[in-house]
Amino acid sequence: MTQDELKKTVGWTALKYIQPGTIVGVGTGSTTAHFIDALVTVKQKIKGAVSSSEASSAKLKNLGIPLFDLNDVDSVDIYVDGADEINGNLQMIKGGGAALTREKIIAAVARKFICIADVSKQVDVLGCFPLPVEVIPMARAWVERELIRLGGLPEYRQDVVTDNFNIILDVHNLKILDAIALEEQINNIPGVVTVGLFARRSADIALIGSEQGVKDIFVWC
Ligand code: 5RP
Repeated sequence: MTQDELKKTVGWTALKYIQPGTIVGVGTGSTTAHFIDALVTVKQKIKGAVSSSEASSAKLKNLGIPLFDLNDVDSVDIYVDGADEINGNLQMIKGGGAALTREKIIAAVARKFICIADVSKQVDVLGCFPLPVEVIPMARAWVERELIRLGGLPEYRQDVVTDNFNIILDVHNLKILDAIALEEQINNIPGVVTVGLFARRSADIALIGSEQGVKDIFVWC
């Protein structure tokens, strides 16, 4: 199976967690795009969706899935999203698609977070994938210096403006042994909007797709 076929299988498998009459939080990326295709098949049964990016919103609208503003809903029952890396505690690096801030907001609101990923995203230690950080443009050089002080090698993501009109720094050279501590440290740098470490709010369930099928994982370490 190709990586995209694994992503498709896992995106469609997530449908089993969708309950009738609920608001579904929808992430961003190619795995989530498959999940949205699956969600269309139950669009008459759900109340609708809240979306983590302009790209996902456009796809949801095109497919006729009712879209809600997060401010207009009292709660989000479930959030389904991909990851760039996921460890044994279901902590993740996210933001490869630059949507990390809105993703983190919906993940925080959601009662249940289902991470959908192919097996290549599963790691023992987070940090091989460069850690995305969304930054206010005027703070770029300062935040870069602070990230270097923390042992990282930040790289400005060329030609990318986030949905919130900010920039992304991708931080290389990190071996993240205490993800919660690093998430707090980076979030506390003035000028940082969000770090793409999802450690304080990790996933509740990971659906991992491999040649052997899709596994529902709660914690594997
Ligand atoms: C977007 C994300 C994505 O979930 C992450 O990049 C994984 O993407 P894909 O499903 O395309 O591999 O965090 O900001």
